[in-house]
Amino acid sequence: MARDFQTVGVVGLGTMGAGIAEVFARSGLDVVGVEADEAALARGRGHVQRSTARAVQRGRLTEAAAAAILGRVTFATDLAALSRAELVVEAVPERIELKQELFGRLDAICPDETVLATNTSSLSVTQVAMSTDRPSRVVGMHFFNPAPVMKLVEVVRTVATDPAVADDIEHLAQRLGKTGVTVGDKAGFIANALLFGYLNSAMSLLGAGQASREDIDIAMQVGCGLPLGPFALLDLIGLDTAYQILDTMYQESRDRLLAPAPILGQLVTARFLGRKSGRGFYAYESPGSGKVVDDGSTRQAGATEAEPRPVRRVAVVGSGTSARQLVVSATSAGFDVVAHDGGTSRLDDLADVELVVVAGTDAPDAPGELALLSALDGVVKPGTVLATTSGRPVIDCAVATGRPADVVGMHVPAVSREGGVVEVVSSIATSPDVIATAYDVVHRLGKRAVRSPDTAGFLVDRLVVPYLNDAVRMLEAHYASADDIDAAMTLGCGYPVGPFELLDEVGSGVALDIQWAVYRQFREPGLAPAPLLEHLATAAHLGRPTGRGFRERLPR
Ligand code: 3HC
Repeated sequence: MARDFQTVGVVGLGTMGAGIAEVFARSGLDVVGVEADEAALARGRGHVQRSTARAVQRGRLTEAAAAAILGRVTFATDLAALSRAELVVEAVPERIELKQELFGRLDAICPDETVLATNTSSLSVTQVAMSTDRPSRVVGMHFFNPAPVMKLVEVVRTVATDPAVADDIEHLAQRLGKTGVTVGDKAGFIANALLFGYLNSAMSLLGAGQASREDIDIAMQVGCGLPLGPFALLDLIGLDTAYQILDTMYQESRDRLLAPAPILGQLVTARFLGRKSGRGFYAYESPGSGKVVDDGSTRQAGATEAEPRPVRRVAVVGSGTSARQLVVSATSAGFDVVAHDGGTSRLDDLADVELVVVAGTDAPDAPGELALLSALDGVVKPGTVLATTSGRPVIDCAVATGRPADVVGMHVPAVSREGGVVEVVSSIATSPDVIATAYDVVHRLGKRAVRSPDTAGFLVDRLVVPYLNDAVRMLEAHYASADDIDAAMTLGCGYPVGPFELLDEVGSGVALDIQWAVYRQFREPGLAPAPLLEHLATAAHLGRPTGRGFRERLPR
């Protein structure tokens, strides 16, 4: 029989603590909220009041229900108010000394059977537990921001935690309308461990000037269906929190990919902490607001000043699905389209087009892509733009022709679920009006164009495939099952699908090729393909019957 908690305490009523208090009160529990002083307490009370008022405004709660929720929360500045709590969840700032000191005091105040939980994002729950005389009744209870909305609770069980206590907390999560996933005590647990590598890579791309804030956010939101792009999400999480999580994960793993990107440290030093301070990667209307204002640096994603070249006649060269789809969408967008299978015959038909898109070809007599581009170069008129959809570096394609300035990439990410984003990839040789032409054509096709660097994986695959690889490595290390990892990312971060479901859609072979390309280019040990990914890709390549997909053929 799971324990039935009725009175719970929450210490620290910042964004997370206030949200957690609200979640408990909404489920009918009595909550004692404790803050350090009256001013902080007033802010915490304000958080809960605003959140319930918003639910009333949206018609999600009646006035009476909101009043009952608020009536179940009492507020105090003295920890002694927790002397009757059966469970206390701590959500104070992420400093181990602070948490250890607090747990020592809670240990003295609360009855022996009280469970003490920390909402830490990445600090060691074991170290926190050892500052008490009850390590068997100390767990991690990690909520996701915004706590009232996100459905995941990571229950962290240390080597000292009584399994029955972890079970009780998983049951409690269920009672709160959440899904509890129990994991061991490892920095970042499941969701942050997978999320923050990706967020840090996005910040590194931005910091290195390889892509703009808007392009990266649009690419991930529109291209992958994520609720927020990485910079909007970092601003929601809080940049000081993000810094601390990355730093802790780096200290534990010594993986350079997790060392906080320099741009993050700079923003934190400047006290640009995200939504809560009114400015982070974006500027907001006011502290706490989610409404972005134009801070002067917002610009139309990736646009160039140059005039596009006029394009009316387009050749689509290729015989696969993507070529066929492009023929259909270009025709319905009003282009005059010539479809060509990419074989060596009839290339002269393409002499008078303004744009050629080489979109993958498996015609029996097709030359390789570079030879095809070279042959096209000899046929098309001067000024014709040569575009490629392949994952190969655009500069390789450009130098295969006698017109490198006219060659541009128009790449649909392999991991894109929506297909709504096209990465416009310019090589160092591409001329600005050719980039503008690619933008113009993408917009006329009804898609979003984002400017991408000419580096392995371009923008979206570069950010997403290493995350998939990390998930495979986590599975390989037996830290969590494929189902729990998928649940963590969908319920904790609102992803449309988890990494293993996505891997099944993309194909392990495709993911492996991209991961190898990224690894070969950046040479970071942390980017090395996971052996398990290689094994699965090999099995798939050999056509061995391995089950229906990644999730079906792996240990649960
Ligand atoms: N508090 C309470 N409720 C909130 C809220 C908040 N701060 N923000 C939004 N909501 C509610 C709204 O009231 C609305 O409820 P309704 O559907 O019942 O009317 C619902 O959430 C949707 O809100 P909006 O329509 O205003 O906005 P969006 O549709 O854009 O959704 C979002 C907002 C839920 C934040 C969405 O963008 C999202 O899912 N983002 C991903 C968030 C994420 O990844 N969180 C995890 C971060 S990592 C973490 O927290 C771990 C930590 O250790 C760092």
